[in-house]
Amino acid sequence: MEPEIRHFATMEQLNQAVAVNLLAFSHECVRDYGLFSVALAGGNTPLGLYELLSTPQVTKKFPLFNTHFFWGDERFVPHDDPMSNVFTVKDTLLSLPELPLENIHPIQTQNITPEESATAYEAELKAYFSQSELDLDIQNPNDPLFDVILLGVGADGHTASLFPGTDTLNEQTRWVAPASAPENVVPRQRVTLTLPIINRSRHVYFIVSGKSKSAIVSKILDTPEGTVGVYPAAQVRAQDRIIWFLHDI
Ligand code: 6PG
Repeated sequence: MEPEIRHFATMEQLNQAVAVNLLAFSHECVRDYGLFSVALAGGNTPLGLYELLSTPQVTKKFPLFNTHFFWGDERFVPHDDPMSNVFTVKDTLLSLPELPLENIHPIQTQNITPEESATAYEAELKAYFSQSELDLDIQNPNDPLFDVILLGVGADGHTASLFPGTDTLNEQTRWVAPASAPENVVPRQRVTLTLPIINRSRHVYFIVSGKSKSAIVSKILDTPEGTVGVYPAAQVRAQDRIIWFLHDI
């Protein structure tokens, strides 16, 4: 399917647009099978969105009791480390009283190895998506998994913690795997969803901002269908919709 490209003059307008899409789709999913799953993006770009999603004017419309938050990737640091993707939402999404604790599914990074963490998260995902309400065959690669995954893009075309030229990018069997960022990217040790699992999402929302990413976004969007291995973000697909929410690109 063709990606939908949407440009915004300000991040406030971009975040509002993402929130509108998320809210509308959340009600559709909860109506159809009672649950809504979102895999959160790490990094700095989505932080304003997470703040907006945590405001009363949004939360009063958000079916949070039925919404489950996951992560597309995690830096392998303690959750109280400012570099942690869990840390960056602890005072927004994770502090919402309407959100049950069991609806928050962090990637574990303490008292566990990256390999053990990836295996444990894969088991948690399989348990969640196997529940009867969802009526999914998790072994069928054509069945959807996450309702929405939010993704950022790095200047090298990475997304989640799938970096160019890495074995993790080419992983086809595991749902979750340890990953290593390039030497110039810290923290280097990561745990990430793999491409086949990302690509089973019903909706993929890329959120990208800043002129420094204009070149890579153009290269990604110009990458012919089927090209592999160059830019990880160019290999992302969705079951239903891919929407690029762009600011200053
Ligand atoms: C992470 C993210 C990563 C991020 C991009 C963009 O954990 O770092 O998953 O893929 O989305 O690097 O990061 P910024 O939004 O900070 O530019």
